[in-house]
Amino acid sequence: MNGTSVVQYNTVDVGGVDVFYRSAGASTALMTILLLHGFPASSFQFRNLIPLLAPKYRAIAPDLPGFGFTNVPQALNYNYNFDNLANTTQAFVNALGLKQFAVYIFDYEAPVGFRLATSKPDQISAIISQSGNAYVEGLVLSFWDLFEAYWNSSSVFDPTLSSPQAQNMLPFLSENVTQFQYTAGVPKAKLPRIDPAAYTLDSSLLQRVDQNITQLSLFFDYQTNVALYPVWHQYFRTKNPRVLALWGKNDPVFGPAGAEGFKKDLKNVEVGFVDTGHFALETDVEVYAARIDTFLQSVVKSG
Ligand SMILES: *[C@@H]1O[C@H](CO)[C@@H](O)[C@H](O)[C@H]1NC(C)=O
Ligand SMILES: *[C@@H]1O[C@H](CO)[C@@H](O)[C@H](O)[C@H]1NC(C)=O
Ligand SMILES: *[C@@H]1O[C@H](CO)[C@@H](O)[C@H](O)[C@H]1NC(C)=O
Ligand SMILES: *[C@@H]1O[C@H](CO)[C@@H](O)[C@H](O)[C@H]1NC(C)=O
Repeated sequence: MNGTSVVQYNTVDVGGVDVFYRSAGASTALMTILLLHGFPASSFQFRNLIPLLAPKYRAIAPDLPGFGFTNVPQALNYNYNFDNLANTTQAFVNALGLKQFAVYIFDYEAPVGFRLATSKPDQISAIISQSGNAYVEGLVLSFWDLFEAYWNSSSVFDPTLSSPQAQNMLPFLSENVTQFQYTAGVPKAKLPRIDPAAYTLDSSLLQRVDQNITQLSLFFDYQTNVALYPVWHQYFRTKNPRVLALWGKNDPVFGPAGAEGFKKDLKNVEVGFVDTGHFALETDVEVYAARIDTFLQSVVKSG
């Protein structure tokens, strides 16, 4: 491991939000990769991937508002919705002076990545999707039906969380369900690879004051992502970005049909599956590092 592979931990002020990020790799690297985490995780999910990428690439992983070690002062009255998460992420990218980068999108922050791509297509050199969904057929119904019922229950977010549909969402913040997201669909032989530190950290951060309102606000707003799918498909067809979709094939949240969906709108897509669940980097980080490297080399070569 050379010096640039050592991971650094920093914060940067982005419109009053102290955005925490972990990063490694030289600023002169072949390419920069922006790594966007999922729910209820943080940049911690990339802790093993970053050192594998850093000898060749600059890897930067921010914690989004409401997650990880990013601090949002109460006085900001930050409105937790996906447009604002995308705006904060774009401002973060600008604050770091990143002009062009590949974006790794997973789960919750995929809608953030697609917003960055559609608002400024030229800044995106390639997309790596790990359960980064853009198709309704990718939403596994058994997981999403309570979300849909919640979206249908009201036309605006109600911060009292008093409706039965809102109350039904609270178990998604429990330790139980967090652990389920790490273990479901993972073959028995790979279970010992899952670091308990990951779901324990996620769970403890979900216990913070007012996380119920923060997270339910995002659950409610998730419907705006589904509404944007046709806009993203249009972006795929007109800009034809290079995409690697490498998904856990037993993911209980976003199913394989979501990865296959990209083929409908993209000419340049590689679709692959790994025998694991939702948090695929916990079990198969070496597989991801190798595929990402091969993919990005080909992106660089084709200019
Ligand atoms: C940020 O907010 C503005 C509206 O204020 C919007 O037009 C823009 O597309 C947003 N998204 C990003 C990724 O900057
Ligand atoms: C939510 O509303 C949509 C549109 O009316 C409907 O198709 C869907 O079945 C509803 N879902 C749930 C879980 O209530
Ligand atoms: C949560 O924990 C309870 C009691 O241990 C268990 O019965 C239930 O099945 C768990 N739910 C999930 C989604 O893991
Ligand atoms: C949300 O959680 C806080 C503690 O963080 C609690 O005081 C409050 O009653 C909860 N609100 C609702 C609507 O459940």
